[in-house]
Amino acid sequence: MKAKARAYTNIALIKYWGKRDELLFLPTNNSLSITLDKFYTDTSVEFDASLKQDQFILDGQHVDSKELKKISAFLDKVRTSTGEVRFARVDSVNHVPIAAGFASSASGYAALAAAAMKATGSNISKRELSQMARQGSGSASRSIYGGFVEWQMGVQPDGSDCYAVPLLPQDAWDLRVLSIEVTHEVKKVLSREGMKRTVETSPFFTGWLEAVAADLIEAKQAISTRDFTLLGETLERNALRMHATTLGAEPPFMYWQSSTVKVMESVQALRQEGLEAYFTIDAGPNVKVVCQPHDEQGLLNELSKLDVVKHIYPCRIGPGITYLDL
Ligand code: ADP
Ligand code: DP6
Repeated sequence: MKAKARAYTNIALIKYWGKRDELLFLPTNNSLSITLDKFYTDTSVEFDASLKQDQFILDGQHVDSKELKKISAFLDKVRTSTGEVRFARVDSVNHVPIAAGFASSASGYAALAAAAMKATGSNISKRELSQMARQGSGSASRSIYGGFVEWQMGVQPDGSDCYAVPLLPQDAWDLRVLSIEVTHEVKKVLSREGMKRTVETSPFFTGWLEAVAADLIEAKQAISTRDFTLLGETLERNALRMHATTLGAEPPFMYWQSSTVKVMESVQALRQEGLEAYFTIDAGPNVKVVCQPHDEQGLLNELSKLDVVKHIYPCRIGPGITYLDL
């Protein structure tokens, strides 16, 4: 059986940064995201008894052995949970820059989980799908849903209470996100490696855990009352706190480039001038700027003037998983 799914990327307003179980992808804190409408991955999966091993074609090319191993390890989890025994042919197309902090792993594993589970003939709930996607990449657990999404860390050692839940549907609160590309280079420290190093070596990690719990409460309050200023202040602060942990790691590392800082400074200056926007940054140098619809065009005009800005992708809030015709 063959199946095809589309998943959109998400951007965390309250970051997932740290695992308590590496194998099961169990996080050290809850996180909160919005799904974006511009970046997505389409993945088809076919289990085929004639295959001697899994095959993974990404953007039309066979991937290297390291990538194939990652995908096969994930497909093993699908096989174990469903009783499927055949190898799979996976064909995926990313409509998103890879490994540059635009969350290709989130849309990638959410689409793969959805297509693979459907291709086995299993009919699972979104909650179970979120749990499966999580075991490919933590942030993928949130891309099962559109709109505002919270990934609950849970407390069980087996991950049975660790999944994403929808907070607000796609069209409940019209916020805009300007995804600003300052570089297309692949980042040097992948999120997986970066968060592991931080948990193991950064003395700031305990401070992060205290701070993120308080930030989450504020962000949820802001979302339920549609208080944009409170949400913006909270999300910007949370991103800075996450990035601060990396400076304390051993060896230390930093996702920002000088161009990243220029955009951050510019967003803060524009805010002083009345264009209300807040930045957030994932594990890469590119910046996402969150604003309300009436400020979007003004921000686009101003931020495009910066010489460090290569491209701006204006995004809206996007949908959850969809299944595509073959
Ligand atoms: P980012 O999410 O910023 O692009 P990450 O380090 O989180 O960067 O993830 C990049 C990794 O995600 C890639 O190295 C690859 O292993 C995985 N990935 C990217 N696209 C896909 C896809 N379509 N299907 C499965 N895995 C993917
Ligand atoms: C900074 O989900 O890519 O983007 O679970 O190891 O695959 P793995 O990590 P990943 O980490 C995302 C980290 C982040 C914050 C976030 O998306 O919440």
